[in-house]
Amino acid sequence: MFNFDYYNPTRVLFGTQRIADIGQYIPANARVLITYGGGSAKKFGTIDEARKALGDREIFEFGGIEVNPHFETLMIAVELVKEKKIDFLLAVGGGSVVDATKFIAAAVLYEGDVWNMWSKRLPLEKAMPLGCIMTLPATGSEMNPTAVVTNVALGAKMGFSDAHLYPQFAVLDPRKTYTLPVKQVSNGVVDAFVHVIEQYLTYPVYGKVQDRFAEGLLLTLIEEGPKALTDPENYDVRSTVTWSATLALNGLIGVGVPQDWATHRIGHQLTALYHLDHAETLAVLLPSLLQVQRETKRLKLLQYAERVWGLTDGDEETRITAAIDKTRDFFDDMGVKTRISAYGVPEKVIEEVLENLTRFNLLPMGEHKDIDRVAARRILSLSY
Ligand code: NZQ
Ligand code: ZN
Repeated sequence: MFNFDYYNPTRVLFGTQRIADIGQYIPANARVLITYGGGSAKKFGTIDEARKALGDREIFEFGGIEVNPHFETLMIAVELVKEKKIDFLLAVGGGSVVDATKFIAAAVLYEGDVWNMWSKRLPLEKAMPLGCIMTLPATGSEMNPTAVVTNVALGAKMGFSDAHLYPQFAVLDPRKTYTLPVKQVSNGVVDAFVHVIEQYLTYPVYGKVQDRFAEGLLLTLIEEGPKALTDPENYDVRSTVTWSATLALNGLIGVGVPQDWATHRIGHQLTALYHLDHAETLAVLLPSLLQVQRETKRLKLLQYAERVWGLTDGDEETRITAAIDKTRDFFDDMGVKTRISAYGVPEKVIEEVLENLTRFNLLPMGEHKDIDRVAARRILSLSY
């Protein structure tokens, strides 16, 4: 196992009616900016509940944050925060809103070129405090220090992580997920599943605890994901999916083990170029990446085949192929299509993505840094 630091300061307020408790974790005299997306948080009453819990505090709102939030929009919020002398940010929504709010928290206190800081991943000296009410189990953003923002002018979708960006608290009320469109439930399960895979399906380093945690999360998502689609108001199912998504990317399972993240990095280009949902990009790319990397991932693929999919018959090649097929079938069963062509995207996307990977200096990637332009082209071609 590798050396590691494990630090996670986010307080999780899990369960029903927990929005009512947020006032305890925000200073009584705070001037609060509630951030939200396209309107779901208003329409379904979540912002009203948050306002009630905030009591007499001065409250401002910034709505209209896009899915895959835009740098350009968020810089408007940064000005609002400065003008209104806001001192606490409260994100209400899915991963896009939480990520956007982390960006705002970093940008407000950054002296210098904000996009330069973000794209070069420069360390922060400080950030504003933020909390969140997460309404979409998927990204894990509620309990991690990461955010992904798109600079529309540059066509760049870039992730950034800094310990100053952990939310101080995260409200996870599984009932808040009942209003999600089916498509978003599917996306969330696939995203969480791939987060686990990125930290698990690499090469063995005797990370036995991490492996068993990861396998537990994968098995849980395989069991509960389909139920979340067919039985949308089942509290137990939604609780389990919600907590699985948080644990998939709150740092716990990734400590001390190699990590991949190539599927995500290539996937962000598909979103930036053709606006595929984040989870759609993962569903098309992951099975092909496993195929192209089957030699370097061999030992973990065999472990995954046996422990997650129960595949014990046949020789090693047969089991590995079957595990990759099962992964693709799972995404299809969850209602997320697994071929780029199924989204009506032209084949020239392959060269365009490769161009972006080079332009943004993202190659080589993967746990062995062996995914170069040639390997990335094979992955994209197989995904098409
Ligand atoms: O915008 P509103 O009106 O709120 O509607 C949203 C949006 O249309 C809707 N929604 C959210 N909660 C709802 C709801 N509708 C009804 N009821 C609710 N309770 O769902 C739609 C999608 O929301 P979004 O926040 O975009 O989805 P998600 O949570 O999947 O976030 C995706 C973003 O997170 C980034 C992705 O790249 C993408 O930009 N990621 C962030 C990560 C992180 N911070 O660690 C890691 C991930 O790998 C990912 O890259
Ligand atoms: Zn993801």
